[in-house]
Amino acid sequence: VRTSDTDIYRLAVQPATAQILPGLSTPVLTYGGSFCGPTIRARRGRRTLITFDNKLGHETNVHLHGGRVAAAYDGYPTDVITPGSGRAYLYPNAQPGATLWYHDHAHHLEAENVYRGLHGFYLIDDEDERRLGLPSGSYDVPIMLRDALFDDAGNLVFDPADPYNRPTLLANGKPQPYFEVAARKYRLRLLNGSTHRVFELTLDGARMTQIATDAGLLPAPVPVDRLVLSSGERADIVVDFAGVPLGGHVTLNDVAGAVLRFDVVRAAADRSRVPAQLRPLAPMPTAVQDRKLVLSLDPVNIRALINDRVFDPARVDMQVKRGTTEIWEVTNSDTNVGGSGFGVPHNFHTHLSHFLLLSRDGKPPLPGEGGWKDTVLIQPGETVRLQVDIGSHLGRYVYHCHMLEHSALGMMGQMEIV
Ligand code: C2O
Ligand code: CU
Ligand code: CU
Repeated sequence: VRTSDTDIYRLAVQPATAQILPGLSTPVLTYGGSFCGPTIRARRGRRTLITFDNKLGHETNVHLHGGRVAAAYDGYPTDVITPGSGRAYLYPNAQPGATLWYHDHAHHLEAENVYRGLHGFYLIDDEDERRLGLPSGSYDVPIMLRDALFDDAGNLVFDPADPYNRPTLLANGKPQPYFEVAARKYRLRLLNGSTHRVFELTLDGARMTQIATDAGLLPAPVPVDRLVLSSGERADIVVDFAGVPLGGHVTLNDVAGAVLRFDVVRAAADRSRVPAQLRPLAPMPTAVQDRKLVLSLDPVNIRALINDRVFDPARVDMQVKRGTTEIWEVTNSDTNVGGSGFGVPHNFHTHLSHFLLLSRDGKPPLPGEGGWKDTVLIQPGETVRLQVDIGSHLGRYVYHCHMLEHSALGMMGQMEIV
């Protein structure tokens, strides 16, 4: 439904079965029956109102990851939709164009709910971006990457204690699919929709040019050979298939194997372009506060901590002022978990606020990390320094490790914006 300033949708959050592996049907959780959820295309300056009806046997809620939305619509972990009821979420889309996604965020259930299918793309289209002439329409393709473990009957196996054993890689819900493309430029919006895995991507047969990160366009395009995406991170890339002969292939690979094959099947005109400047970084006000956050696992008590505490919805961990910026130094202290000799990667995601990555262990960030982000990978022992643009809303918002098995065990805190 469209009104003059709002697009209105209604989606059931419901169990379904999906054909993921040949000859087998897999029970999944869905938005509106499809695995993954439908892609919602919003327009900057027009609002979106989505009512989600909980047809599951347990709680759910919905978080727009990367969205700048009021606290009441942010999907706070304990602000859930009980089975049998519905809830409307209002998204203002007052931010620049970006590749966002929506997913479940119910306290302690988020990892399993997302793993079983409660995630989908949410794209904000932006008039200013259109003018740049980047590939658009059917040449602008969202691709959700994730991993999974299946049993012999085709059931998804969720073992939060063993998140590294998920050998099947899915692109838009399919194992190693192929995608027929024209010999021209495409914009591919890559999202790591896994709950834990870090993808390390390379492209075989063509070049990748990164044009956007989590919160939208980079200042300028960056050629990349390798893209590292942790859970929740996005990277928009432009790939030009024009150099590939008709009948040829290009493959997107993870270190663990092929993810997706592009078959170049036809010629096509191409008036799209990748301008040398995309979106200048606006200067940020000087930070008013410095904070340190330390992420660590507590394997003995099966807890996951930020500054030695598990998430407590009744406790405010920091008060921040709306409209300001702060410096947050986030450290992954897990170089030797439980005396095992092994380190564990974490990442860091904050709701509402976007940030610029200033440094990793004092060194400048990778070129593709030079724009506005909301999620960042932190290797064992590493410290990232972020300048956080808090945002203009009031209320309580969470920040957490986006390896959702960790946030479900408490690696999450909350800020109160005043
Ligand atoms: Cu994508 Cu709090 O999450
Ligand atoms: Cu989020
Ligand atoms: Cu973690």
